[in-house]
Amino acid sequence: MAQSVIHLEQIRKSYFIGKNELPVLKGVSLDILKNEYVALMGPSGSGKSTLMNILGALDTPTSGKYVLSGHDVSRMEDNELARIRNQEIGFVFQQFNLMPRLSALENVAVPLIYAGIGKKEREDKARQMLEKVGLGDRYKHKPNELSGGQCQRVAIARALVNDPSLILADEPTGNLDTKTSVEIMEIFGNIHASGNTVVLVTHEEDIAAHARRIIRLRDGLIESDKMNEMAAAHSH
Ligand SMILES: Nc1ncnc2c1ncn2[C@@H]1O[C@H](COP(=O)(O)OP(=O)(O)OP(=O)(O)O)[C@@H](O)[C@H]1O
Ligand SMILES: [Mg+2]
Repeated sequence: MAQSVIHLEQIRKSYFIGKNELPVLKGVSLDILKNEYVALMGPSGSGKSTLMNILGALDTPTSGKYVLSGHDVSRMEDNELARIRNQEIGFVFQQFNLMPRLSALENVAVPLIYAGIGKKEREDKARQMLEKVGLGDRYKHKPNELSGGQCQRVAIARALVNDPSLILADEPTGNLDTKTSVEIMEIFGNIHASGNTVVLVTHEEDIAAHARRIIRLRDGLIESDKMNEMAAAHSH
């Protein structure tokens, strides 16, 4: 399919607790095109994070096919997976997942170390990204010296610094108050508007309303997959 960033065919994922199989994803097929903005919703335990971890190449499916930007991820070895994860994917988590001992600038620069970029260029790029998310005056702060919303901005800057083809965010506003959530959603809106592909998990309808397409999971299967007319009406 032309310009599919994500192509999933019959993705299944089971966890094994001793000898008991717990099927979590039960055959998910899906295409997400370049520059789509997708909200993934569904009840707690329906498999959203499991699916996101597979999309982010943090975990592998039990069976099925996953093609990410033309690369068949389901057939990749670990080292190849690590490379594609670093180059193609920016991941934002609910708990921010920042390194506590590193400054904001150093946290943002981490993916560039793995990409083999020199120190000066790393710092320049990380600084630019922090400015983009409105944290130009907080380079030297450590995570415990930043608010939750500021930590999430650092995490978003880190996710964007390698210019990935796909931004994944699992409940990025789950730990933030309403006002801060609105600010973070504005940043995701800008990320999408500048041509990125965004997939975001949320429990909240008003957060999902920012997306152009809403996919609902239930019990490990896609229950519905609809364009969001409200967001399309407000498109720039
Ligand atoms: N590592 C694991 N080992 C065993 N079972 C797991 C593991 N991770 C997730 N599960 C189970 O898989 C199911 C789906 O979990 P998942 O985290 O994907 O749900 P979710 O849709 O993200 O829920 P929430 O909205 O609460 O974040 C749950 O029943 C969970 O207990
Ligand atoms: Mg989850």
